[in-house]
Amino acid sequence: MVLGKMLSVVLTGAALLSGSKNAALPEKNINGDIFLVNRQHVISEQYVPDSLRKTQVHGMSQSMREDAAAALEELFQAAQSEGVKLSSVSGYRSYSKQSLIYSRKVGRTGSEAEADKLVARPGTSEHQLGLAMDLATRDSSTLSERFASTAEGQWVYANCQRFGFIVRYLKGYEDVTGYSYEPWHIRYVGRENAEAIAASGLPLETYLSGWKLELYDYLIHQAMN
Ligand code: DAL
Ligand code: ZN
Repeated sequence: MVLGKMLSVVLTGAALLSGSKNAALPEKNINGDIFLVNRQHVISEQYVPDSLRKTQVHGMSQSMREDAAAALEELFQAAQSEGVKLSSVSGYRSYSKQSLIYSRKVGRTGSEAEADKLVARPGTSEHQLGLAMDLATRDSSTLSERFASTAEGQWVYANCQRFGFIVRYLKGYEDVTGYSYEPWHIRYVGRENAEAIAASGLPLETYLSGWKLELYDYLIHQAMN
């Protein structure tokens, strides 16, 4: 009896995690907050978020998905009220824009291997989701690691989760994320997720694997009781 229940719960869990019910996983819901895009999880050339709008913040005129845009505006207002002056550089990028940026980077670095550390190939960028924004200080719109040691970069790292964002490409996790450290690139994941991910100190990929393991633990626990 217990064994039968355990088997059924585990099979349901396994189907949920790997089978046709994948769409039920939050990381597989493209209109959700925590959708995972990386080299292994590619989005279609046609994908355009349906609620894109211009963000009303200091900097380059950039769009984001409505929920992310509203959160970014709150983040900028809080930063401003604490004397931190941020500037937006790059938000939503279409598949073709990402393609152009990637080709340019290959030209500049001289190889695809080098470009791959810095720019996502089209179809693999969070910028196409409309959930990412690159930030800079107001005296330099260059995206560089130096941002991490500025007051603005430190404020972003310490506070962005309050508004639902994470610093997505962390130092020390380059082999997991596939990209060089990008202290300027923030990704909207929703407030609750952002707080939990920031507290874990893990990149999104590792955090999501932990989430699956926890689900397995939960299912096994349910089956045993
Ligand atoms: N620079 C990040 C990885 C992107 O191109 O989306
Ligand atoms: Zn970026």
